[in-house]
Amino acid sequence: MSKHQPLVLLVDDDELVGKSLATSLRKEGFAIVRVEDGDAALPAVNVHSPDLVLLDVRLPGKNGIEVLQEIKVNRPEIPVFVMTAFGSIDNSVTAMREGAHDYLTKPINDADLIRRIRRVLAASTHVQRGGDAVDSTSHTIGQESLIANHPRMREVLQAVQAAAPTRVTILIQGESGTGKTVLARAIHQLSERRDRPFVEVSCGSLPDPLLESELFGYEIGAFTGADRKRQGKFEYADSGTVFLDEIANATPALQIKLLRVLQDRVFERLGSNEPIGTDIRLILATNADLEGAVSEGRFREDLYYRINVVAVSMPPLRERADDIPALASLFLGRYTAEYKKTVDAIDDTVLDFFYRFNWPGNVRELENVVEHAVIMAKAPTIFLSDLPPRYLEHNQDTAAGPAVRPLKQALEIPERDYIVKVLKLNGGNRQKTAEMLSVNRTTLFNKMRKYDLLDDSF
Ligand SMILES: Nc1ncnc2c1ncn2[C@@H]1O[C@H](COP(=O)(O)OP(=O)(O)OP(=O)(O)O)[C@@H](O)[C@H]1O
Ligand SMILES: [Mg+2]
Repeated sequence: MSKHQPLVLLVDDDELVGKSLATSLRKEGFAIVRVEDGDAALPAVNVHSPDLVLLDVRLPGKNGIEVLQEIKVNRPEIPVFVMTAFGSIDNSVTAMREGAHDYLTKPINDADLIRRIRRVLAASTHVQRGGDAVDSTSHTIGQESLIANHPRMREVLQAVQAAAPTRVTILIQGESGTGKTVLARAIHQLSERRDRPFVEVSCGSLPDPLLESELFGYEIGAFTGADRKRQGKFEYADSGTVFLDEIANATPALQIKLLRVLQDRVFERLGSNEPIGTDIRLILATNADLEGAVSEGRFREDLYYRINVVAVSMPPLRERADDIPALASLFLGRYTAEYKKTVDAIDDTVLDFFYRFNWPGNVRELENVVEHAVIMAKAPTIFLSDLPPRYLEHNQDTAAGPAVRPLKQALEIPERDYIVKVLKLNGGNRQKTAEMLSVNRTTLFNKMRKYDLLDDSF
């Protein structure tokens, strides 16, 4: 099993502080998940089960104190450090009163912060080990860490966070490898059924009579070879979650039975007429176009409407390149631990390539590439030459073009150049520059800080 890499959830909307903190923490061997919005904090805590939360007080959405209160109610075992602006003693006092483990004043001294984090984590591991052994079911989420920084992924998380505690059926659509199965597990973990079974069945895996018997069970003599009675997955999973993958492949016979389970909450074992009541939560997934299947008559419309109550769509990886660095570093941690290698960085040329590549196999493909690279790596950093050869060929094909970055990042380049130009025009006078750019001085200051221009002379 892989060694546990401590995960820190960073809740901070200040790009500059957030990024530099994340970099320092990663260097020290922590996995980082970052969210920028107070409203996204609790969902992230629930999904990732971080070892520690670093929380800014001033946030868009809920403020840090409100988030702290939520975490203390829902996950009181997770230590929270609160970061306050210099001089705001009130906030620090409130934070400590509300159960924060520690508070830090900005600007943050990274070395000091890391020392404090290590101290708290050492203490809490001790407590966990001394008490109950870590329960593998309730920590699946922790182990599977779901990265969701991109706004579309955050929306997905928010939707499932709202739906998870109820019994409502959830449909997850998305290309292969986008994380549908990981999300289904997360939903189960977020629900009160988390201590009951999570059963996963693919509708494409078995021919129909077998699949039905697998799901619903059978009585003696139900079919040739049924020489004893058997419980199906639906019975086994009672009051838990059944995850039906590749639902578009369900045969008409199975579709009818599923409709009955959803409508009447009953089913029969094969070879029996006796209805069995069931309390399961269904999650369904498909990488096919279900609506198309409905219009072509291959999928029952009534069933489609039943399962389409809460539907989420996992964006393909090429449409959320922002998530690539976090995913890559998660996989780096996972496979360096598994293969006992010391690799702690990914060269910029590799990350650049990751941004440009279109990832037809989505997150699973990225994971495979990182795993391959970790095995091949001869240095503590992953270079292009460590990738599988077919990717290198692809990289040569595309290397001639300019690096494609997320729009927001790409637009920062001309913005920085323009600010430098106007600063030069005004001999570095910030007041005049701000006036010419029609922004206030704080905005200009923040941008100069972001672009590392504060110490430059013009
Ligand atoms: N958001 C994510 N954060 C972290 N890891 C992820 C994420 N999404 C996917 N993964 C990783 O990618 C792998 C593939 O994801 P998953 O099996 O959930 O995809 P899927 O959509 O169910 O694919 P398929 O359609 O082939 O069943 C997982 O094993 C997991 O390690
Ligand atoms: Mg899957």
